[in-house]
Amino acid sequence: MLQVNEIHHGDARTLLKSIENDSIACSIWSPPYHLGKEYEKDMTYEEWQELITTVINLHTPILIPGGFLAINIADILVFPDKNMPRIQALNISRQRISVTREDVLRAMELHPTYNRYQLAELLDCSEQTIDRRLNGNNIRGGKYNTQTRVHLVSGIIEKAGKDAGLYLYDRRIWVKDPAWQSSQWHTISYRSIDEFEYIFVFWKPGITVVDRKRLKRNEWAEWGSRGVWNIPSVRANNDHEAKFPLELPRRIIKLLTAPNDIVLDCFVGSGTTAVAAIMENRQYIGIEKEAKYVELAKENCTKTRQTMDNTYKQIKLDI
Ligand SMILES: C[S@@+](CC[C@H](N)C(=O)[O-])C[C@H]1O[C@@H](n2cnc3c(N)ncnc32)[C@H](O)[C@@H]1O
Repeated sequence: MLQVNEIHHGDARTLLKSIENDSIACSIWSPPYHLGKEYEKDMTYEEWQELITTVINLHTPILIPGGFLAINIADILVFPDKNMPRIQALNISRQRISVTREDVLRAMELHPTYNRYQLAELLDCSEQTIDRRLNGNNIRGGKYNTQTRVHLVSGIIEKAGKDAGLYLYDRRIWVKDPAWQSSQWHTISYRSIDEFEYIFVFWKPGITVVDRKRLKRNEWAEWGSRGVWNIPSVRANNDHEAKFPLELPRRIIKLLTAPNDIVLDCFVGSGTTAVAAIMENRQYIGIEKEAKYVELAKENCTKTRQTMDNTYKQIKLDI
């Protein structure tokens, strides 16, 4: 059985089977989003879906009756679809080159044997500009790339939870920093940029204690009872490329668990959930498949424990 207050190295699909039944008060995780990050780059869409479904399914026996599973995830905004027709959008506002369609047609009349490259040289522009002026195609992502559409994840998550015998209890929106930099394509489309994610909360049937004293009055008003959480994103992703902010698991832990409860994160990454659990006097189990992140998570837990111990010693001295 997996030890409590440890970060374990391995695949969630294997290690979740080694957690004691009816032991986890709340599991909080953010899985790979199928966005091609380093730790998921070799996974097909079907394999990704299988990972999410299997992991949700493995939660049913290990949650305490009345316990929760909170999943932080986002929709896939650029899902490649080879059946999607091409978006033949002439982007008028980006036509910075002064060569017009009429210029190209006139040049073709004067030089009927010229190919696109020769015409480009003559008009001092690129071959692509000649093509665009003649065919009016300025396609987002390049005209030879597969087109992309939005793919909602809520359906997959809801079905996996229901099939596992869990009930969707709540859903919230996390409003993060708008991702202007990673959404360069927004300037050549009508799409909105990436700036929110979901938190889906499942409940395992059983008695759930509702303790209104877990939060202060202002905490209930500011976030405990609110469906939208405004929390800035993690700016420094130098040690892990997809961390969620500490405040996110911290709120879930404060709301849905009691002191000393066991909190699980089976995609623990840099250890944010475990750190939040330590800070809130809860126990934790972390699982991570990448060895370098296991080390990072362990270090972060040790640092947090040391800081907490020092603060406690200081308070005792002050008293
Ligand atoms: C979105 S990140 C989670 C980041 C974490 N919430 C944090 O704040 O650092 C997903 C993590 O899951 C890990 N992972 C991916 N597939 C896994 C699997 N099958 N089992 C365990 N961990 C996995 C990745 O290596 C990555 O660290």
